[in-house]
Amino acid sequence: MSNSKQIRLAVVGLGYVGLPIAVAWGKTKIALVLGFDINQRRIKELKKRYDRTGEVNKKDLILAKVKYSSNPKDLKWANFIVAALPTPIDRFKRPDLSYIKSAAKIIGENLSKNTIIVFESTVYPGVTEEICGPIIEKYSGLKCGKDFKIGYSPERINPGDKKHTIDKIVKVISAQDKKTLNLIEKVYGLICKAGLYKAPDIKTAEAAKVIENIQRDLNIALTNELSLIFQRMEISTKEVMKAAATKWNIQYFEPGLVSGHCIPVDPYYFTYKAQKMGYKPKIILAGRRINEYMPEYVADLTSRALKEAGKKIKDSKILVMGLTLKENVKDTRNSKIEKTIQKLKRKGVEVFGYDPLLSKKDVEKFGIKYIQNLSSFKGDGVVLAIIHNQFKKLSLVNLKRLMTNPPILIDIKSHFKNLKKDNFIYKSL
Ligand SMILES: NC(=O)c1ccc[n+]([C@@H]2O[C@H](COP(=O)([O-])OP(=O)(O)OC[C@H]3O[C@@H](n4cnc5c(N)ncnc54)[C@H](O)[C@@H]3O)[C@@H](O)[C@H]2O)c1
Repeated sequence: MSNSKQIRLAVVGLGYVGLPIAVAWGKTKIALVLGFDINQRRIKELKKRYDRTGEVNKKDLILAKVKYSSNPKDLKWANFIVAALPTPIDRFKRPDLSYIKSAAKIIGENLSKNTIIVFESTVYPGVTEEICGPIIEKYSGLKCGKDFKIGYSPERINPGDKKHTIDKIVKVISAQDKKTLNLIEKVYGLICKAGLYKAPDIKTAEAAKVIENIQRDLNIALTNELSLIFQRMEISTKEVMKAAATKWNIQYFEPGLVSGHCIPVDPYYFTYKAQKMGYKPKIILAGRRINEYMPEYVADLTSRALKEAGKKIKDSKILVMGLTLKENVKDTRNSKIEKTIQKLKRKGVEVFGYDPLLSKKDVEKFGIKYIQNLSSFKGDGVVLAIIHNQFKKLSLVNLKRLMTNPPILIDIKSHFKNLKKDNFIYKSL
C-alpha cells in the first residue's frame, strides 16, 4: 500500500464512532470503503441511507462511497481495517472486552496478509497489543508485527457536537512500528485536516485517551462536590464558577449528572488496570463516587422541595424534562437521570417524562408515563434535567402552568436564576 489509491479500507463496528469515520473516508472518494457490522438491522438501514443514531445525515450517507455488509468474509478484501467496538463495563464496574475480543476474532478469521488494523475503542493501556493482537494472531495463523500490523487511534468525536467533527480536531495516532505509523498517517490524513499527533507508542496513545475522560470526570466531580457544599451555603455554583473563571488559570465547569458511555465508564478501565498492577487509585475513584451519587442527590432535592412546598411526597406527580444523556442527542444509553427516576419512584412519586427527541417507547423504557404535549401535564413539580434547544424558550409562565401552587423546579443545569422571588420552590446544583 504505497499510495492512497491502493487503500482498501474496512471499518468494523458502525456505531456512533465507526459510521462517521467510514462516511468521512467514503466522501474522499480516494479510498474504497467497506462498512462492516454484525448488526444486520443496522446494515439494512445503512443500505437505505438511514442512520438511526442521527450522527450522519442522509445527504452525506448518499455522497459517501461506502459498501455496507454484515458478511465477515468481505473483510478479506481489506488491507486497512479500523475497529470501533463498544467498550462498556459490567455490573461490577469491570471492563467488558467481549465486543472488542469478538471483533478481533472475526478480523483474525478473515484477515489477509499485510493488513494494518487500527483500534479506535477507548481501553486501558495494553489492550491493543496484549489482547487484540494475540487474538488476531490466533485466528489468522499470521504473526503480528510481521504478517500484519496493529495500531491505535483514539476517537475524540462528541455525539451531537457539530463543531468538533472528525475533520476539525487533531487526532492521535500510534502503531507498533514507524513504517506502519507513516502509513496510518497517510490514511487518516485523508480525513483529519486539523492534523495528526504521532504518539511514541500504542500504550501512550491508549493512556492519553483514557485520561482525557478521567480529567473531565474529575473536574466535574470537584464541581459537583462544591455544589453539595454551596447548596448548604445558599450560593449558586454556576455563579461562583463564572466569577472564578475570570482568573486566567481557572477552568469553567458546571455541576451535573455525568451520563453516557464514555466519561462515567472509561475511568473504571484505567482503575481496573491500575489495581491489577498493584496500585489502588484514590482520587480517580473518589471522583467517580461523587459523580455516581449525584442522581440520588437530585432525587433528594426533589423530595426536600416537595416537603418545603407542603406537598406530600407519596403520590406526588413529578415531570422530568429531558431524558437523553445530554442535550440535543437522541441517545439515552447510561443516562443518569434514570437513577433519579428510580429513587423518586421508590419514594412513591409518580414520575412522568417529556422529551421532544424521544418516542413514546423510548420514554416508557424509563418506567415512567409519556407526556407528548407539555400542556397535558398538571402536577406538583418539574425536574429540568438537560436543556435541549427546544427548552431554551421555556418561560416561567409556561412552567408555572404545569404545576399546582407552589410550583417546584429542580433545575439541574441552573438554566434559570434562583426563582424564589417568583414564588417557586427552586433548587439547582
Ligand atoms: N460515542 C462516543 O461519543 C465516543 C467517543 C469517543 C470514543 N468512543 C469509544 O469508541 C468505541 C465505540 O463506541 P460507539 O459509541 O461507536 O459504540 P456503539 O455501540 O455506538 O457502536 C458499536 C457498533 O459495533 C457493532 N459491533 C459490536 N460487536 C461487533 C463485532 N463483533 N463485529 C462488528 N461490529 C460489532 C455494534 O453492532 C454497533 O453498531 C467505544 O470504545 C467508545 O468508548 C465513543
